[in-house]
Formats: sequence, structure tokens, C-alpha cells
Amino acid sequence: MLDVKDLKVGFPVRQSGEKAVLMAVNGVDIRLEKGDALGLVGESGSGKSTVGKTILRLNKNSSGRIVFDGQEISKMTSKEEMRYRQRAQMIFQDPHSALNPRMTIFRSVAEPLILQTKIRGGALKRKVQELLEIVGLQRQFLYRYPHELSGGQKQRVCIARAIALNPELLVLDEPTSALDVSVQAQILEFLKSIQTELDLTFLFISHNLAVVRHICNKVAVMYLGQIVEQGDTEDVFSNPQHPYTKALLAAVPLPEINQKRRSEPLHGDIPSPLNLPRGCFFGSRCREKIVGLCDQSSISNTELPSRHLVRCIKVARERELAETQAEMPIPLKAE
Ligand SMILES: Nc1ncnc2c1ncn2[C@@H]1O[C@H](COP(=O)(O)OP(=O)(O)OP(=O)(O)O)[C@@H](O)[C@H]1O
Ligand SMILES: [Mg+2]
Repeated sequence: MLDVKDLKVGFPVRQSGEKAVLMAVNGVDIRLEKGDALGLVGESGSGKSTVGKTILRLNKNSSGRIVFDGQEISKMTSKEEMRYRQRAQMIFQDPHSALNPRMTIFRSVAEPLILQTKIRGGALKRKVQELLEIVGLQRQFLYRYPHELSGGQKQRVCIARAIALNPELLVLDEPTSALDVSVQAQILEFLKSIQTELDLTFLFISHNLAVVRHICNKVAVMYLGQIVEQGDTEDVFSNPQHPYTKALLAAVPLPEINQKRRSEPLHGDIPSPLNLPRGCFFGSRCREKIVGLCDQSSISNTELPSRHLVRCIKVARERELAETQAEMPIPLKAE
């Protein structure tokens, strides 16, 4: 359904008065099959939202290829782009700012239908009621304003609006992190249920690894604009290979992670994307760094079984070594 290849996004900025380009995304490859829920995780500033927004064409200053259902999105005609905007929708972190405070709930949810379809009058009202019902809001909310709703209710309105045009792909950017903890679980369960019921594909951006594990069948770990590890959630969580993934997982109490194999949590801060390190971007914080090896210029992905990809030269070397050893003939016993 979605194939992202070598995506790069740079923002023109000023650094001590000089013009510079901040590389927020640095060569990202993502593949989503229909029905997948891919969790995109990583520290603040790693480029997750930029990837999500670029996929939805909210950033156009990018290079690489984004192919949706066989069609490259940068080559769409304006009519095709309009259709794409129905098929792919985004839900943002903060439902308070995503809703117009002067519009009733009815108006907010009806807006995409008014703009993109010919549904009007009684049929429009019925459709909006139906959408509110799907997201678990009663009819009495129809003519209320956002300030009269709780955070969780507002996020439900945003979801109703996002699903109004029967989209196929939903990009969810931290959809519950602005909500109270008690409401987060409800919204997550609800999102999980609509994913199956409405046959949706999710790109689920989150800081929270436990949530990603619960919602997503695939996971991609981002660091400084690159994906350092990706694969099936179960594979990545039970057998993390990249030192960054290991460190991220070390910081969360997930019972299924083998305690003995836990690595140390992360120290220090993520470097500035204006001053990218040489070689492996994670090198400055990596506990397993091998000087002379990890500062080489290009580090490519190593593929482990079941499309588990790891961008780490040490993993690549270990794998090469294991393969050579496996190919070596078994020495004969001395007589
Ligand atoms: N419009 C912009 N102009 C300049 N820099 C930007 C812009 N948008 C994002 N950035 C920078 O790009 C980098 C990636 O930002 P992004 O918001 O994608 O990260 P993120 O992983 O979503 O972080 P968070 O978890 O905090 O939401 C950051 O260094 C950010 O400051
Ligand atoms: Mg973000």
C-alpha cells in the first residue's frame, strides 16, 4: 500500500546568522502492506512527525519516493492528490488545537464531507451522527463546541472527522500523549478496534514502546532521521539487535524482555541534526562502538530472517562471521 524509498527532508534554517539545512529525515525506507500497523518510535527530534507529514504531503521539500497504491505521490495531478487526501488521513497529538474552537462538533465532522462529497441536508446529518456513534459519542454532542468536551472526547471527534471519507491509511502522530492516562487506554483500544473493523492501515508514531507493542504488528526505530532497526514487532522486541533499540527497550519495563540481555539505558542527548556525526549517527552514544569501524562513512542495512533490518556495522560483521563459520567444513577428528 505504501512504499517509501530513501526519503530525505531538509529544512532551511539559520545557524548563527548563516544559512544552513537541517536534515530532519536522512534516507528513510518504509513499507506498509494493507492492514499493517507500523509503529514509528524514537526520541524527540528523531524525525518521526516529519516522516508522517511528508507522507501526507504536508511537507513538499523532500527527495526520494513515496508510492501509495502504485502511484508516486509527488507526480499526482491535483485531482489525484485530492483523492489521495481522502484515502490518507492524519490524526495529531493535540486534539485541542486540531479543532476549530468556533465550529460545532457537527460542523467539524461534516467539513470534509461538505468539501469532498455531495452529501447535504438530512443525509449529511445522519452521516455525522453515524460517525459520532462509531467513535462512541452520543448525539447530544452534535451542537456542542470543543471547549465543552474533554480531551478524550475531542480526540474522538478528530478520529470521526479523519474517518469520514473512508480512508485507507491513517497516520497517527502520538494520538494519545496529550490525554489523561486513564483516557489513553480507552482511545488506544478504540483505535485498535476501528483498525480491524474499518480495514485501516496505520502508521503509528509514538514514544511509548509498550503502546506500540500492543497496537502494531511492525515497528521501525528512528534515530537522527534514519531508521536503525525495523521488522515484526515480536522479532524486534524479543531480539533487538541495534544498540539504540536495546537501550530504548532497557528503559521500559516489558516483562517479556529477557532481563539478562538488557542493556544499559541511554545516556546523553541526541546530537543536533545540524551537526551530524561521521559514520554511524548513533556512534557518540553507543556502548558497543568500535573505533575505526563505526566511523566509516556509509552503513547499510543488514537483513536478518523475516525482513528484520538492522543498520549497524557491528551486527553486519558478526553476521558475516557466523556465515563464514557455518560454511567452513567440519574438521575431521585426528586419528
Ligand atoms: N518546519 C521545521 N523547520 C525547521 N526544523 C524543523 C521543522 N520541523 C521539524 N524540524 C526539526 O526536524 C527535526 C525532527 O523533528 P520532528 O518533529 O520530525 O521530530 P519528532 O521525532 O516528531 O519529535 P517529537 O517526538 O518531539 O515529536 C528536529 O530537529 C526539529 O527541530
Ligand atoms: Mg513529533
